[in-house]
Amino acid sequence: MSTSSGVDTDCQTLTRFVLDEQRRFPQATGDLTQLLNSILTAIKAISSAVRKAGIHSLYGIAGSINVTGDQVKKLDVLSNDLFVNMLRSSYTTCLLVSEENETVIEIETERRGKYIVCFDPLDGSSNIDCLVSIGSIFGIWRKTTTTPIDPSDALQPGNKLVAAGYALYGSATMVVLSTGNGVHSFMYDPAIGEFLLTEKNIKCKPRGKIYSLNEGYQKYWDKAVSEYIHSRKFPETGKPYGARYIGSMVADVHRTLVYGGIFMYPSTSEAPKGKLRLLYECNPMAFIIEQAGGLAYDDKQTRILDIEPKNIHERSPIFMGSKEDVQDILEFYKKHPK
Ligand code: AHM
Ligand code: MG
Repeated sequence: MSTSSGVDTDCQTLTRFVLDEQRRFPQATGDLTQLLNSILTAIKAISSAVRKAGIHSLYGIAGSINVTGDQVKKLDVLSNDLFVNMLRSSYTTCLLVSEENETVIEIETERRGKYIVCFDPLDGSSNIDCLVSIGSIFGIWRKTTTTPIDPSDALQPGNKLVAAGYALYGSATMVVLSTGNGVHSFMYDPAIGEFLLTEKNIKCKPRGKIYSLNEGYQKYWDKAVSEYIHSRKFPETGKPYGARYIGSMVADVHRTLVYGGIFMYPSTSEAPKGKLRLLYECNPMAFIIEQAGGLAYDDKQTRILDIEPKNIHERSPIFMGSKEDVQDILEFYKKHPK
C-alpha cells in the first residue's frame, strides 16, 4: 500500500513475513523469529561495514590465520564478532559453529535457547579487498537431545535444518531465506533499515545455460568433471553453455538460483574433499536450492542434505543448481564412479 508520498505504509518486512509464517504452527514460541532478527542485525551491521570498509580502514589482513589456514581479514573478524554476539544475546541458541572458530561456541547456561546455528560470517574473503560481492551464510538446527549440551549436537545432517539463508553484499544487500516452506528474497532498504520482500517462492529453472566452477584446477579434476565440462563447451546439438565464476559461493549460488545452471566445487586430486564446508556452506545453500526445486549432490551421488557430518569443519565436494544440470553431471559420475 503506497501513499501519495511514495511511502509504502504496509510494507512486508522479513520479520513480518516470518511472523506470519510462524503463526501457522500453533506450537511456535516466537524464538525462531527472535533468532532471525538477531542474525538480521548482524547482517545490517556487516553490510554497513562492507559499504564503508575503505573509509574505515577495514580492508587488509588482521594478522591471524583462521582454522582452515586462510589469513583473516579485518572484516572477517568484525563479521564473526557480530554474528556471535547477536546470537549469544538472542536467548535462543545453545551452540554456535563458525568458520572462524576452531571449536564450537557453547552459550552460557543463563542465555541458552534450543537452536544450534552454523554460519560463515563473511564468505568469499579473497574477494574483499577488490570490492567483489561477498556474503554471509547460516543454517539453523534444533537441539534434538535432552542430554546436557555437547559439541556433537552440532553434527546434524542438512535434512534436519529448521531454516537456512544467506546475505549477499552485492550491488545491493539481499537476504534469501527458507524456513522449509519455499525460498523468499528480501532487499535491504537502508532508508528504513528493513529487509523488504522482493520475491516470494523463488524457483530455480529446471535447466540453465551457465556452468560455474574454478576452471583453473582442470589438471586436478576427476574424469567425470572433465568430460561433463567438455560436453557443455562442445555440445552435439545447440549452443555451448556460458561460464561464470565469481569465486564467492554466495554470489555464484545466488546467480544459479536466479538464472539457472550449475555451480560446482568438485573434489580434486589436490583437495579430495573439495574446499567448501558441509555445515555452514554446503548445507544451507543446498537447503535453499532444494527448496527452490533444484538439486545438490556430492560426487558419490549422495544428496548433500543426507550426509552425516563427522566433524564441524568437514568439507564436501558439491554440485548444485538446476535439476537437469545436476542430473547430467551425476550421469558422468555413474560412468566414472569415485
Ligand atoms: P572462504 O570461506 O575462505 O571465503 O572460501 C570459500 C570461497 C567460496 O565463497 C568460493 O566458492 C570458493 O571459496 C572459491 O574458491 P577457489 O578460489 O578455490 O575457486
Ligand atoms: Mg567460507
